[in-house]
Amino acid sequence: MSKHVVATVAEIPPGQRKLVTVRGRSIAVFNLDGEFFGLFNRCPHQGGPMCEGILTGLIESDEPGHYQYSRKGEIIRCPWHSWEFDIRTGQSWCDPQRLRARKYAVSVEPGARLVEGPYKAETFPVSVEGKYVVVEA
Ligand code: FES
Repeated sequence: MSKHVVATVAEIPPGQRKLVTVRGRSIAVFNLDGEFFGLFNRCPHQGGPMCEGILTGLIESDEPGHYQYSRKGEIIRCPWHSWEFDIRTGQSWCDPQRLRARKYAVSVEPGARLVEGPYKAETFPVSVEGKYVVVEA
């Protein structure tokens, strides 16, 4: 495992995502209200580009005719067959005990720390100003 600088924080606003390539792997970095999460962009079902699907939320029902919608924007729906995954955990909704998307640790680091290393900037030089999104892969 090594740490890779993939974006500035400003590049991925809340509710948005960015696809990056780290060590040859396509990874999507999501910003959920200021918290960052990374998922492998390969669906565990049949290998579709899972993270390019739509963002949705959680719909739950405790009885017919009543439902609750929550966690808006925290569920990703694979564009191939519509399987859904929790961005925070990688857990699938169709088979949560056995199926999950691969997660990657994502952190936010100040530029001054990154200049010290041993981080690798995959896409651009790192400066001491601002904060950067770092993926461990
Ligand atoms: S490949 Fe993703 S749901 Fe089938």
